[in-house]
Amino acid sequence: MKNYIKHDPWCIIEEGFAADYNEITESLTSLGNGRMGQRGNFEERFSGKTLLGNYVAGVFYPDKTRVGWWKNGYPRYFAKVLNACNWIGIDIDIEGETLDLATCEVSEYTRVLNMKEGILERKFVATLASGKQVRVHAQRFCSIVDDEAGAIRYAITPLNFDGKITLVPSLNGDISNKDSNYGEKFWDEIHKETSFGEAYLEMRTKDTPFKTELFNVCTGMKIDLKIDGKKVDFQSLPVKEEKCVACRIILNAKTNEEIALYKYAVNLASLNHSVEELLPNAKVYTNRIFKKGFEQMKAEQIQAWAERWAQNDIIIEGDDAAQQGIRFNIFQLEQTYTGEDDRLNIGPKGFTGEKYGGSTYWDTEAYCLPFYLATADQKVARNLLVYRYKHLQKAIENAQMLGFKDGAALYPMVTMTGEECHNEWEITFEEIHRNGAIAYAIYDYIRHTDDEAYLGEYGLEVLIAVSRFWAQRVNWSSDKQKYVMLGVTGPNEYENNVNNNWYTNYLAAWCLRFTLESIAKVELQNPAALAAIYERVGFNAATETAKWSQVVENMYYPYDAERQVFLQQDGFLDKELLTVEDIAAQRPINQRWSWDRILRSCFIKQADVLQGLYFFEDEFDIETIRRNFDFYEPMTVHESSLSPCVHVILAAMLGYNEKAYEMYLRTSRLDLDDYNNDTEDGLHITSMAGTWMSVIKGFAGMRIKNGSLSFTPFLPTQWQGYSFRITFKKQVVRIGVRRGEVEVENLSNEPLQIMINDNVLHLEAHQSQTV
Ligand code: BGC
Repeated sequence: MKNYIKHDPWCIIEEGFAADYNEITESLTSLGNGRMGQRGNFEERFSGKTLLGNYVAGVFYPDKTRVGWWKNGYPRYFAKVLNACNWIGIDIDIEGETLDLATCEVSEYTRVLNMKEGILERKFVATLASGKQVRVHAQRFCSIVDDEAGAIRYAITPLNFDGKITLVPSLNGDISNKDSNYGEKFWDEIHKETSFGEAYLEMRTKDTPFKTELFNVCTGMKIDLKIDGKKVDFQSLPVKEEKCVACRIILNAKTNEEIALYKYAVNLASLNHSVEELLPNAKVYTNRIFKKGFEQMKAEQIQAWAERWAQNDIIIEGDDAAQQGIRFNIFQLEQTYTGEDDRLNIGPKGFTGEKYGGSTYWDTEAYCLPFYLATADQKVARNLLVYRYKHLQKAIENAQMLGFKDGAALYPMVTMTGEECHNEWEITFEEIHRNGAIAYAIYDYIRHTDDEAYLGEYGLEVLIAVSRFWAQRVNWSSDKQKYVMLGVTGPNEYENNVNNNWYTNYLAAWCLRFTLESIAKVELQNPAALAAIYERVGFNAATETAKWSQVVENMYYPYDAERQVFLQQDGFLDKELLTVEDIAAQRPINQRWSWDRILRSCFIKQADVLQGLYFFEDEFDIETIRRNFDFYEPMTVHESSLSPCVHVILAAMLGYNEKAYEMYLRTSRLDLDDYNNDTEDGLHITSMAGTWMSVIKGFAGMRIKNGSLSFTPFLPTQWQGYSFRITFKKQVVRIGVRRGEVEVENLSNEPLQIMINDNVLHLEAHQSQTV
């Protein structure tokens, strides 16, 4: 754990250059706008520890699978989020010396990510080997208003000399992915041009045998210069190198005169523009933002962020570390996904690193959806569902490849295009609970929005295909006289190839039930849509639904009658039942123990039975939940970032407030304090939504009861109060929790019914009440 980031309610502050932690700080100061994003790399050259990262949403490369022992059914490629053209580079040469913070003396250094405004800023004084000193002040942002653009203001002031300073702003497409399977580079150059103060570079992803879409990305830049705040004429020499274009600007700098270089850049992808129009559009776009100017773009950025914060901020009083933590999580989620494009999704690392390939996991449905449901327009969450609808055909093909038939669908564990990209058999073929999360998301969306029409439009088709899979994946055990599910991996990936994972069995049966109920609903509300769906998917209602009902009624659930707990899987009690405290010095076990030892142990990577109790809380009484929590919590090592939030929510519900707070700290400052020693790879974006859930569903106890919002809030002793807004069925409510009181404000134009601690409140439009 590290704590070099200064606590502050709105900013992520590095004070003094922590060169050894630079890759961590680069992750923490990542910028994004849903269309593109980048790590907090330096503009000027840096020969120290760094992980360069520029990403364009939806642009990937199908890297040929690399495995030791090929198993039938493995995917041919792993679709990777692509490290793309570096558009921030500005090389600085001072009378023959390169400005490089790894080789000069650095003082007065600060790097600040201002989350309120969405702006990254760096200030320092560098003393070069020759003794020459310069002051640098760099500011940049990825615009959330012009979301294919970014802008930089890079100001450099000589402090003790007059002399030549050369600035070389560049677009460098000679980029590789650190995680490339075969050390290949993934980009080909298509076109480059540079003229006075302006340059364009178009790259295309390399062709592969996999017949996936190729992407062209055209990056453009235009430069402006001011000296001591005044626009000046300058010479710009064109530079062309392989996969790189730049402008060289040589200036006679004077002591204490500030040279400010403005770099306006765009990143246009063939995902959003036709290939023919890419270059002309890039030119128009670049010139448009150039005309707008840095200050105007910046003002718009600040205004747009203010609007976002007004909608989804969580204000915590009396604890700066907690405040910074929650805002950091919200800020990064907002930077990653805006919900405007149903082809995009939320990769576990977002735009902050390469790990996990940048594709879509069950994380989206199980963890991220609630955040977008409650903080954004309904269409944002809807687009996340439509994304999976569009992948349905591929999910059916994926199931076919594994031997399933008749329209059964298995959604991939990891995907970009709908095709499976994961290649570890125990996960690819066996971690099938992900299919259930996709169905659960449909349920969650409808109960939160009341948009039941979604079922007839898209939802039901997905549910039928997923249910067909479950009905084929179970088998009848004549020994148990029950349906069983063999050879699975639950959410707890520290158990592989187990039989009857309680969570998966429960989820499968729930999916079948939910699909049956949804069919009945659509039949009632829109029989024509139902008939069309039946026709499209070749549904034999009588036989298929009869089988589903049988499975629902006869599913096997492992249970220990003595302890009265659900068993994570068959045979769980044969294990030596230790607690996390017994192995404190040996954690994290995934870095210290052999895999077989992990598998044989009772230790749980992330919520598994408890994930089920969180999803289906309403179907169990509180004592059942308590017994299971008391049994499994002490064995959980939380070695997945997705784990603590589920424990916060259950602990808060059970009144284990200290436990809830302890788990909350772990999730909210996971990256800021580098708890897992891996922030340098990028941030844990999907688990950030879990942090949000910890406050809203955990501390504030938000639930949906009988179609209304309900809260049972508690205030951690460390805080003086907290408040937030929730969008629910197109209404917006503000909840403020302080010691001994809860303030509820109806911010909508319609009356609102809400429950606080099981008491029903009726609020007129724009009325507030304190209870
Ligand atoms: C977790 C999975 C998760 C993946 C991506 C893994 O460590 O066990 O549940 O989907 O990370 O976040």
